Amino acid sequence: MQDNDVASEFPDPRSSDYYNTAGSGLCPVTVRDQVKQYVEASCADAIGTSQKYAPYVEALRGHLARLLGCTGAELALMHHTAEGANVIAHGLQWQEGNTIMTLDREYPSTVYPWMNVQKLHKVHLVLLEERDGRIEEDEIVKALHRERPRLLAMSAVEWCTGYRFDLQKIGEACGELGIVFFVDAAQSLGFWEIDVETCKISALAGSAWKWLFGPLGMGYLYLRRDLLERVTPLFVGSESVVNPREYLRYDFTFQPDMRRFEYSTMNLSAVVWLEAGIHFVQQQGLERIRRHVFDLQDYALERLRDIGCTVRGDLPRERRSGIIGFRHPKIGSRELATTLYREAAIIARERDGFVRLSFHLYNHRPGIDRLIDLVTHMA
Ligand SMILES: Cc1ncc(COP(=O)(O)O)c(C=O)c1O
Repeated sequence: MQDNDVASEFPDPRSSDYYNTAGSGLCPVTVRDQVKQYVEASCADAIGTSQKYAPYVEALRGHLARLLGCTGAELALMHHTAEGANVIAHGLQWQEGNTIMTLDREYPSTVYPWMNVQKLHKVHLVLLEERDGRIEEDEIVKALHRERPRLLAMSAVEWCTGYRFDLQKIGEACGELGIVFFVDAAQSLGFWEIDVETCKISALAGSAWKWLFGPLGMGYLYLRRDLLERVTPLFVGSESVVNPREYLRYDFTFQPDMRRFEYSTMNLSAVVWLEAGIHFVQQQGLERIRRHVFDLQDYALERLRDIGCTVRGDLPRERRSGIIGFRHPKIGSRELATTLYREAAIIARERDGFVRLSFHLYNHRPGIDRLIDLVTHMA
């Protein structure tokens, strides 16, 4: 069963039937209340409220920095993963004949920015083939030696299967070969920490509304300090420069850190939301969250197997994430997910031929029993 503190954060009984944190996490009550306070204060005094809440930006940067083992100066707040990838994709200087490598089942935000570079700068794009939602790290390392790309872009956690890559192994190879290592952390950060230094990550981007309990349209970008000057900001505005409040001095000197990429007015309500979301995650504790989720996954995997389903994600815990999947021998996964929603308001998505289940603190065993009963009776 859930602890009382968790139950009071997700009081709606429907939350236990929500298996789509990998799409978007549910909003805890304490997070909702903090956003509410910000909005209410803005009703009386918009400018005064934005000044009062301005320190939340640096507080948020601090939270993210702790999860990534970097400094706040190496982080910019973005709208989403795609924006972070685009900052890197367009900020680096490309030469015809350069190679970019990624995997062939990546989420589009980690593919299209590089396809665009391919189109604009005539670089080669190599898509490594995944099999059953994964590819061995040794195979990636071999491909790096063979293709010698200028940049490798890949996710820390595969978005359909939940497979957690050994980033350190891949990052060490990138470091040795001088390859820019770009990581999409959308399905990882908030469930797992990522140590950018140990994993030799050059740049990393992600979205905030999944495992970090932030709002839609909020994300982050990390760029290693020594790479800052190698990435040219293509979008600029009042906040890109050293004296952002001296509007008419036009001193076009960039901020000395990643704030140069934030370039104009910040979405402060989203900052307040995400700051509260990460604070919530930290209060709950990543280890506690993982223990709860992994125990539930073990239970779900066993019960799904018992009723004849094929499962995905039964991996050693250090290779797992919040995501697993299953396929029914007789019912198509899309139909199954749709029926679960229509008949019982259970929210899960079909991904890559499987029903993807992503768990969090609000899920529990009785909910899984209900899901299993429904699937059993559907057949
Ligand atoms: C691996 C991965 N990256 C990124 C995203 C989201 O992309 P963006 O932040 O650009 O909306 C998702 C969302 O499902 C994802 O699974």
